Amino acid sequence: MDKKTAVFRKEHFNAAHRLFVPAWDDQKNKEVFGKCSNPNFHGHNYELEVKVTGVPDPQTGFVIDLKLLSDIIKEYVLEIFDHKNLNLDTTHFKNLNPTAENIVRIIYDILRKRIEPKLDLQVRLYETERNFVEYPA
Ligand code: NI
Repeated sequence: MDKKTAVFRKEHFNAAHRLFVPAWDDQKNKEVFGKCSNPNFHGHNYELEVKVTGVPDPQTGFVIDLKLLSDIIKEYVLEIFDHKNLNLDTTHFKNLNPTAENIVRIIYDILRKRIEPKLDLQVRLYETERNFVEYPA
């Protein structure tokens, strides 16, 4: 019998970014990225959903202690990204366009290292209420 169960933790952070390709001029960046290419940056209220899947431990009944998961997200994701300019204040996006697609993958990579390998991990990131991404797909 497959007892695999998914548990979720929702978190939230605010961050600023600018989407642009350095090799392009402002006009071309504006054509491709629209308002998100504003040279003086703009902010988003990002909503993060972290999904961990596994078989609950027979003793604790937990897939993962959600307090532990919350602490890991706070320490390694929110501390790094919340109230930051993603382009300027983080090392991750010095040479990587901070699209939702790239942010969610970076967050996944950060968390993957800190969650037991036997547990499956999936991360969903909402950039707006209607635009969101998921990794791995
Ligand atoms: Ni944007």
